[in-house]
Amino acid sequence: MGASFGGVICTRPGLLGCKSTVFGQPSERVSTVGPHSWHPRSRKAAGASAPVVDELGDQKSQGGAVSDAGTQNDKATLSVGGTTAEFPVLRGTDGIPSIDIASLTKQTGHTTLDYGFVNTASTKSAITYIDGDQGILRYRGYPIEQLAKNSTYLEVAWLLIYGELPSASELASFDERIRRHTLLHEDLKRFFSSLPPTAHPMSVLSAATAALSTYYESESDPHNPEHVELNTVRMLAKLPVIAAYAHKKSIGQAFLYPDNSLGFVDNFLKLNFGVLSEIYEVNPVMTKALDLLLMLHADHEQNASTSTVRLVGSTGANQFASISAGIQALSGPLHGGANEAVLQMLGRIRDSGESVERFVERVKNKEDGVKLMGFGHRVYKNYDPRAKLVKEAADEVLEALGVSDPLLDLAKELEQIALEDDYFKERRLYPNVDFYTGVIYKAMGFPTRMFTVLFAIGRLPGWLAQWREAITDPQTKIGRPQQLYTGAAERNYPGV
Ligand code: CMC
Repeated sequence: MGASFGGVICTRPGLLGCKSTVFGQPSERVSTVGPHSWHPRSRKAAGASAPVVDELGDQKSQGGAVSDAGTQNDKATLSVGGTTAEFPVLRGTDGIPSIDIASLTKQTGHTTLDYGFVNTASTKSAITYIDGDQGILRYRGYPIEQLAKNSTYLEVAWLLIYGELPSASELASFDERIRRHTLLHEDLKRFFSSLPPTAHPMSVLSAATAALSTYYESESDPHNPEHVELNTVRMLAKLPVIAAYAHKKSIGQAFLYPDNSLGFVDNFLKLNFGVLSEIYEVNPVMTKALDLLLMLHADHEQNASTSTVRLVGSTGANQFASISAGIQALSGPLHGGANEAVLQMLGRIRDSGESVERFVERVKNKEDGVKLMGFGHRVYKNYDPRAKLVKEAADEVLEALGVSDPLLDLAKELEQIALEDDYFKERRLYPNVDFYTGVIYKAMGFPTRMFTVLFAIGRLPGWLAQWREAITDPQTKIGRPQQLYTGAAERNYPGV
């Protein structure tokens, strides 16, 4: 049985075979409004176009409608098993067009099979744009380089969540609201002592985030805009505190209370590095560097953890549950856990005395499955623009902190050798964001096991923005992939 797609399957001029681009604290409480529900009316109630009244009475949008985007002037045809079916081709603002196969099974009796979703757009989204060939990353249209130079993490968090940059007063009130929600319930603090001292901080972060939801059960309706808004602020305020407590627990030090006189990043640094017996002094070099790193991690369109957050959210689960799942997805070494794995890899090379050339040979030979961690990316087939910014920052930060780390030199040597090697060139493998971040986190004093936790705090605004976008998109359905069954055909139970 043959299957063929007709039409013009060009996505971008220059692609193989393409002729054109045609183709195709104080009181946190709010009143509970209505019961939990999952029906079109409630989706509309929390919809993107519906203005939300925040605690200060301002009105703001929830980040721009996505479902209406994309024109449908082009068509793609598919012939399979004697049936020819036609599908609309949707074009976004930028990037690769999509063939809308919503009616595929109905029209043809077939599904698609796409391991790792390499060719599948899971949603429309108006938040982040990546061009992996060009090494471009934009949040809400703004190039990451411009944001890195001029913006801050909280500003970017607002941008991602609400769709536009904040005014000065919006930013000030956002900052103030986050500061007022930093306290954790005292019982939740005891939750940390029930976990083993060896617990990985990412597991602690995810578990405590899930536990956080138990304190806000009556205020966690995904379709109640007031709940969503309040829990957005709660998550932004409390996740750094949970992260710092996971760190303190891992080193056996007492938890500090948040100091709400401090800005977001300084408060976080104090919670991590302050001790009850001493006065904590803010180090502006650390503040600037961490703010930048958090900003660079703030969103990255439909990556594994974000897709997890959206998938869990599609079931009607609340923000805490969805983010907790996203944290778990981020922890893997192929995703956010790579920043920890890079430092482990560099440490192993240094300790073993193995030459960098020999290590690269082992990677190329795929000996024992060894990979060059912090290299390669599903989307970037060029230098990851975030890695470029982190590499520049690494030199500056280490110098400003008066730290010299041979692992930074080792990383640079490794990068240079890899970039000149045919194996990496042919596969278009470049350093990704995780390659140099660990060196900076280490210079700041964070233990290796905290690195992915820092990634999670950075990524939180993106997760929240994506969750909110999904929940308010009338086209969102529960995520439920199909499968190609390859198990036993029907057979009779023979008895044991
Ligand atoms: N070292 C050595 N070879 C690699 C690497 C690497 N880091 N990455 C990919 N390859 C090879 C891979 O073995 C394959 O080779 P072949 O054609 O001979 O089979 C080829 O390159 C294509 O790789 P792939 O595995 O099909 O690519 P993917 O898109 O499925 O995987 C990735 C992307 C990021 C999981 C992978 O590049 C990787 O494992 N990198 C190391 C882990 C890492 O740094 N992850 C952080 C990603 S960026 C931060 C984030 O978003 O989380």
